[in-house]
Amino acid sequence: MPSQTALELRTSRTALADGLGIDGPFIDRLVDRFYSAVRSDLVLAPIFASRVDDWEPHLARMKQFWRSILRAEGSFSGNPMLKHVVIPDIDAAEFERWLDLFETAVLAEAPNPGAAAMVTDRARSIAASLLAGVLRHRQSPARQGSSNGAYHA
Ligand code: HEM
Repeated sequence: MPSQTALELRTSRTALADGLGIDGPFIDRLVDRFYSAVRSDLVLAPIFASRVDDWEPHLARMKQFWRSILRAEGSFSGNPMLKHVVIPDIDAAEFERWLDLFETAVLAEAPNPGAAAMVTDRARSIAASLLAGVLRHRQSPARQGSSNGAYHA
């Protein structure tokens, strides 16, 4: 059987998302709801407040990120790992809090349980890899290469 081309893979991921109702308007609502909760959260708000001056571009960027993760729509280019390893005050507890708020927003906005499960799974696995990268970086900062964690879609 011939292997799938990148384009076919992308198209099938977008079709899967479509089938679950994971569309652009849902992603927009999810991101808006989540960051509105973050901005009034006692644990997370101070961490963001000292790093995000202008929320509109950050929200637009996060919508692009989630479109590329969930729908394979190519509009995000960045390096989430590098952005997070330089934040000194995040640890397992802050990632847990992040996931709690994210899952609450997913449950409020997801069109069905299958969509909620898919979005939550992706967030958990990215959170685990970011946390692992943050902890690794603290043990041995020099090993954090500039291309490590780069993401383009
Ligand atoms: C303790 C948990 C977290 C905190 C406090 C946090 C905080 C932040 C902050 C302050 C920024 C802006 C950085 C900057 O522009 O200089 C950022 C960017 C970002 N975060 Fe997080 N974050 C957390 C977890 C996560 C998780 C779990 C994900 C994904 C599932 C995520 C995805 C992103 C992405 C995609 C960006 C933009 C990266 C880029 O511009 O290249 N974050 N985060």
